[in-house]
Amino acid sequence: MGAMTVQPLACVILAAGGGTRMKSSTPKPLHEVCGRPMIEHVLDTVERLGSDPTVVVVGVGAGLIREAVSGRATDCEQAEQLGTGHAVLCAMPELQGFEGDVLVTCADVPLVTEETLRALVEQHQAEDAAASVLTTEVPDPTGYGRLVREPSGAVAAIVEHRDATEEQRAIREINAGIYVFRMDALAAALDQLRPDNDQGELYLTDAIGILVGAGRPVAAVKTADCAEVMGINNRIQLAEAERIARDRIRERHMLAGVTLLDPPSTFIDARVTIGTDTVIGPGCQLIGATNVGSSCEIRSHVVLRSATVGDGVLLRDHTVIEDSAVGDEAQVGPFSLVRGNSTVGRGCKLGSSAEMNRSHLGDGSKMQHFSYLGDATVGEDVNIGAGAITCNYDGVDKHPTTIEDGVFIGSDTILVAPVTIGREAYTAAGSVITHDVPPGALAIERTDQRTIDGWAERVRIRREQKQ
Ligand code: UD1
Ligand code: CA
Repeated sequence: MGAMTVQPLACVILAAGGGTRMKSSTPKPLHEVCGRPMIEHVLDTVERLGSDPTVVVVGVGAGLIREAVSGRATDCEQAEQLGTGHAVLCAMPELQGFEGDVLVTCADVPLVTEETLRALVEQHQAEDAAASVLTTEVPDPTGYGRLVREPSGAVAAIVEHRDATEEQRAIREINAGIYVFRMDALAAALDQLRPDNDQGELYLTDAIGILVGAGRPVAAVKTADCAEVMGINNRIQLAEAERIARDRIRERHMLAGVTLLDPPSTFIDARVTIGTDTVIGPGCQLIGATNVGSSCEIRSHVVLRSATVGDGVLLRDHTVIEDSAVGDEAQVGPFSLVRGNSTVGRGCKLGSSAEMNRSHLGDGSKMQHFSYLGDATVGEDVNIGAGAITCNYDGVDKHPTTIEDGVFIGSDTILVAPVTIGREAYTAAGSVITHDVPPGALAIERTDQRTIDGWAERVRIRREQKQ
């Protein structure tokens, strides 16, 4: 992407607030947009800008947020939420000795793009500003801080909605809550913040007016896409962000060569990858750490949750793959469930209403109709007949089943684990297999058939006698 920033760039992400308007026991920064916590979206974006160090200010739900950002950012605690300015003050010790520009952003503005942040930083540096604030015009500015300008157009100050006059409330250019400060200007302005506002807090927004008052150059960078900088304060805004982010994700995949037959009904999470020429039908969900290969056909209502799908795979309608992998050219479904770290080998055919749990199906094996494999390791080119199942659970423990290469499991075979079926062996239809079967053998376990001639006639006579 664009040129590297001229100055070193640090970043402070504000994430200590209570998020009271979410009405949730989950801290706001951990609410998910497209399957990824908001704070991680923000971290992804600032990492791409080359931010170093990145400091996350934590407070409410500190433990959980720390865990979410660990290894990617340093954190500092704001024990009491005394305002956005106070939050940045808490981060200053972590920036000790840093010289350059500091990008300040919020964990609750997850949609802002790398391009927009880069434009903010670049314009800030080009203008040699002490501080720059990202703004946008919105149709309904209620709740946001307003950017007040001089008649000349120069930035004067930011006024919070609750502190604004009627006249100021009519301003539709709002503060996105994202700023770049020169390190020395930030330190000087924070020193002068006072809690003289409706909430009695230290507002970071006041730093803008303070720097203007001190005669320092302050810039506002206005972005055209107001959806991008929306702040998430309640669940309606969360749903709106989700909708916008999903649209973007779908567009990205379509531009990269994926066909979506009904984009609005297709849910694709942020981290999902999909190869070219894959076709995805209506109502599918690709969730979590899911990776799909190229030239796959994914029919309707398929759910892939942390699934790995190879190339040329056919997933028929209503198939669910969870924490499991399907090899190249395999076919699964309809109505099948593969879960619990299972693997379906290359070219396998898993038919309708099949379930696999903690099991492995070797390359080229088939299990076409109504079967269950639990804790089973199945070799290559095995055929598993209709309705065959493993009994892997005895009510207390789970036991393994091993089916070696080339085995033929007859329809309705019950495999009582632990049990091993040797290479190229057969089990007869309807057998309950409780003992190992050696390679090449046939295991048959069922009573001989009795055939009673004339049975229907006997029933007919009894029925007539009753009348
Ligand atoms: C803030 C801005 C407002 C801007 C809006 C954009 C201030 C005073 N107001 O308002 O001008 O239009 O964002 O979305 O900055 N936080 C802390 N510690 C605190 C308070 C807040 O870390 O003591 C964090 C929150 O977790 C959140 C962010 O700062 O991530 C913003 O706080 P929030 O209360 O949502 O501010 P807004 O009212 O949205
Ligand atoms: Ca907010």
